[in-house]
Amino acid sequence: MDIKAVGVIGAGTMGNGIAHVFARSGFSVVLCDVEQRFLERGLATITKNLEREVAKNKVTAEEKAAALKRIEGVTERGKLAECDVIVEAATEKFEIKTEIFRDLDRLARPEVILASNTSSISITKLAALTRRPEKVIGMHFFNPVPVMKLVEVIRGLATSQETFAAVRELAVKLEKTPVEVNDAPGFVSNRVLMPLLNEAMFAVMEGVATAEAVDEVFKLGMAHPMGPLTLADFIGLDVCLDIMRVMQEGLGDPKYRPCPLLIKMVDAGWLGRKSGRGFYRY
Ligand code: 3HC
Repeated sequence: MDIKAVGVIGAGTMGNGIAHVFARSGFSVVLCDVEQRFLERGLATITKNLEREVAKNKVTAEEKAAALKRIEGVTERGKLAECDVIVEAATEKFEIKTEIFRDLDRLARPEVILASNTSSISITKLAALTRRPEKVIGMHFFNPVPVMKLVEVIRGLATSQETFAAVRELAVKLEKTPVEVNDAPGFVSNRVLMPLLNEAMFAVMEGVATAEAVDEVFKLGMAHPMGPLTLADFIGLDVCLDIMRVMQEGLGDPKYRPCPLLIKMVDAGWLGRKSGRGFYRY
């Protein structure tokens, strides 16, 4: 499969990181979001992160300029019609993704692969919204996308081997390491990570230790680059809560119940780093 142009839906944290790595690897990118100001913010972040990479001698100033030139920001979804693959990284709500997948299925050529960067929504369910379920797949990147090596490649029930092989190859071209996973709530990454973060929140709620102490335990005792509560703030507490709820509903085991403190903090609008307050203040 000859993939040259890639569409990315959503210019938020994940979407702009995905556009960044595709453009850095020589693909032309159509980055689509609903409002011009979201595009501008996403493109400013890509510029800043590419500058960071120039400062670290990971890319040259010329490569940075060329990568930026390869990205076209659009608010009109129809512009994605020319893309060879489309990666959806929109808000993590099933209703929003439903509308997007139905629309993409209408506008993209029949051979185009539709990938989702969803962190927990069923790929099988997204695929069933389209007339090309064999061409729908999960391409789950990790934040910060330009740095993290993993792409979890998730096969929906109907995903074809051809689609899987094309996406695996695409991840390698991005200098990432693809890992194959079957469709199940939370896949592997969040199935294992989120209960850890949730349990760390229970430890804080029950007064076992402060957030700082819990984080020190994991940084110094387990060599995690960030402690679980810093990481939860980094991911976004609303995202953590949504993922716990998807696993609670999908797996039905009470061990996936979200920590009441997490629910309370999200209710308060304390969403972590992005809102200025979570387990820490920013
Ligand atoms: N773009 C480009 N480069 C970046 C960057 C970005 N957005 N952010 C950081 N970097 C680079 C820095 O330039 C630096 O490069 P160097 O190694 O060549 O010096 C390197 O990354 C490390 O950055 P810093 O020195 O500034 O900071 P740290 O050493 O504290 O590392 C971190 C930052 C990479 C974020 C590290 O703390 C980390 O790995 N944290 C864990 C992140 C993690 O677990 N992510 C997964 C979240 S789960 C997820 O995304 C899935 C979802 O479904 C929930």
